[in-house]
Amino acid sequence: MDLTGKNVVYLGGFGGIGQKCVQELLQRPIKALAIFDLAKNADLLAEWKGKHPNTDIFYQKVDITKKSDIDAAYKATAERFGHFDVVVNGSGLMNDRLVELSIQINLLGVINSTLTALEYMDKAKGGKGGLILNISSVAGLQPTAIMAIYSAAKTGVTTFTRALANPFFFAHSGVGFVTICPGFTDTGLLEDIGSKTTFTYETPMLAMFNKVKRQKAEDCARNLVLAIETAKNGDVLMIEDGKTQEIDMPVMWKPTFVE
Ligand SMILES: NC(=O)c1ccc[n+]([C@@H]2O[C@H](COP(=O)([O-])OP(=O)(O)OC[C@H]3O[C@@H](n4cnc5c(N)ncnc54)[C@H](O)[C@@H]3O)[C@@H](O)[C@H]2O)c1
Repeated sequence: MDLTGKNVVYLGGFGGIGQKCVQELLQRPIKALAIFDLAKNADLLAEWKGKHPNTDIFYQKVDITKKSDIDAAYKATAERFGHFDVVVNGSGLMNDRLVELSIQINLLGVINSTLTALEYMDKAKGGKGGLILNISSVAGLQPTAIMAIYSAAKTGVTTFTRALANPFFFAHSGVGFVTICPGFTDTGLLEDIGSKTTFTYETPMLAMFNKVKRQKAEDCARNLVLAIETAKNGDVLMIEDGKTQEIDMPVMWKPTFVE
């Protein structure tokens, strides 16, 4: 999608990857940008508004575990922008000691945000179509034993997003879906992992985890914004070591049909 004149919603826009994505987006002539996040970063917001006076940038407080916050934020955005073309679901939490919250933020939150955004974007409901990118993870491509709950939630995000990319849905709504799977990226999310693992006992996975090379958040962001511009409905894109790789997901089940 050509981002010129487009209205974008970014969830988690003040996070490590989120703020670099916002900066990358603001390099394009987008018309408007809504940032949904748990807390406002007033300094960053003022800096972005000062540097980009031609883009309408605004913040909406959203706790993604609260459906009422999600509803209110999309409603306010639709009223202010008229419509929105792109949504990036980029909120997240990696802490397997908080089981319910991990599922609420990483999976249920993404599902609720996506379905709410569709109410406004779906062409069959009077919307203009567009693109929704859901940030999963490499832990949403294969089991990541050290963080089993996070991995389960992210696998849910991958599957949910791929399911919504079904060509029948796309023909109906005009909204494309892309799954983004970053590898290890240097942000606060990866801090103090030892106290966030699924189990409290020592495992060799922790030592391994700490040795994995981490890409810079800005390298991940450059690839993510490029995905908005170039990806196709249904793409699953791994962003690892500053590069994008399209993942060919295997078809495991081929049903037999009765006559
Ligand atoms: N850093 C990595 O190695 C990595 C790898 C793969 C995927 N990811 C995913 O990328 C996304 C961004 O992660 P990050 O590394 O920038 O982490 P981060 O901790 O820097 O940012 C997380 C963002 O989510 C927001 N958030 C957390 N709880 C929320 C809530 N209840 N309601 C609304 N917003 C909430 C935070 O405020 C923040 O803006 C997440 O989905 C994460 O799972 C990160």
